[in-house]
Amino acid sequence: VSRDRLLQRSLHVLREGQAPSGAFVASPAFGVYRYSWLRDGAFCAHALDLAGETEAAAAFHRWAATALEGQRKRAEQAIAQVLSGREPAHEQMLPTRYTLDGELEPPGEELWPNFQLDGYGMWLWALGSHSERAVPLDGLRPAVKLAADYLDVCWQIPCYGPWEEFDDGKHAATLAAIAAGLRAASRMLNHPDYDQTADQIVARLFAEFVIDGRFKRCASDQRLDGSLLWLTVPFEVVAPHDPRMRATIEAVRRDLIGPSGGVRRYLGDTYFGGGEWILLSCSLAWHELLTGLGDGADMREWVREQALPNGDLPEQTISHPQDPKMVEPWVKQWGPVATPLLWSHAMFLIVERTASIG
Ligand code: BGC
Repeated sequence: VSRDRLLQRSLHVLREGQAPSGAFVASPAFGVYRYSWLRDGAFCAHALDLAGETEAAAAFHRWAATALEGQRKRAEQAIAQVLSGREPAHEQMLPTRYTLDGELEPPGEELWPNFQLDGYGMWLWALGSHSERAVPLDGLRPAVKLAADYLDVCWQIPCYGPWEEFDDGKHAATLAAIAAGLRAASRMLNHPDYDQTADQIVARLFAEFVIDGRFKRCASDQRLDGSLLWLTVPFEVVAPHDPRMRATIEAVRRDLIGPSGGVRRYLGDTYFGGGEWILLSCSLAWHELLTGLGDGADMREWVREQALPNGDLPEQTISHPQDPKMVEPWVKQWGPVATPLLWSHAMFLIVERTASIG
C-alpha cells in the first residue's frame, strides 16, 4: 500500500472510529476492544491535531472530560482515602476504558484489569499539546484539575501497566506518562505544584528503573520493553541524548526487532503469540525523527508492508510469533488480531506527519 493511500485510509479509520460522543473506539472489528481507552484515544487525538483536524481532537477531549466528570465522586473519594493514608481497592479507582457514551463498562464475565494510571497522564499530555495550538480549554479546566489531582496523589499506588499487565505494579512507561501529564496540567492550569510531583517521579525513574546503563520495564523486572521509547518521545522526561536512553534505544534495536522487521513489546510476550507491533515500530521511527538520530525509514517501510490491501493496519503482525502455540488460544478466545486498530493508524499518521515537517 502506498504512503498516500495509507495516510488517507488512516484518517478514514480514525474518523469512522469516532463516535458522535467524541470517543474513539479502540477497534471497530474486535469485540473486546469496543470501548474507548484514554491511552489509545490520546494518540488518536494527537494524530488528528497534527493532521489539522482540530475539531475532531477537541471532540475527544470534551468527551474525556465529561466521562471523567461522571466519575468525580469516585476520584475524589480515592484521593481522600490516599490522603488519609489508606490504599483504595482497584475497583475504587478510575477506570482504564469507558463505553463510547462515557460510562463505566457493564460488569462482564471476564475479569479484565481496569486500574491503570497511564491513560490519565496520556490524556493530559495530549490535551496540553492540543491547547498549545491556541485552542481554548473552555469548560475542561475542572476535569483537568481532577485528573491532575488524582495523579498527583495516587501515582505511587501499584497499578497495571500500558500492556494491561500487573507485574510488580510499577512500570517505567506509566510513571513517564504521569509525569508528562502533570507537567501539561501545570502549564494548562498555571499550577506549578504539579511540576514538583513530576520531578519526584522522574527522579524515581532514574533511581529505580535503570539496569546495566539502560532503562527497564518495571522496578523489579529488568526486561527491556518497547514502551520505554516513550520516556523521551513523546513524554520528554528523559533527554534524547541521555546515555541511558541511547543505550535503551540500542537495546530495542538489537533485541526487540523481530524476524519480520517490526518492534516487539518485550521478550516473553505471549499475547497472540507475541508478534511485532505497528504502534511500537512507529514509536521507534518517531523517536528517531524527533531526536535527529535517524529517519525511521526502515520502520516506516515495514509498517506500510503490514497494511491489508484495503489499507487497514492491525495491532500486531504474527507472521513470526515468539510463542507459536499461543496464537490459536487467543484467536479462539477473542477472534483474529484486532484490525484495524485505531492506535496503529494514529501512530502511522503521527510519524508520517513528523517526517514531512522535518
Ligand atoms: C493493549 C493496550 C491497549 C488496548 C486497546 C491492549 O491489548 O495492551 O495497550 O490500550 O489493547 O487497544
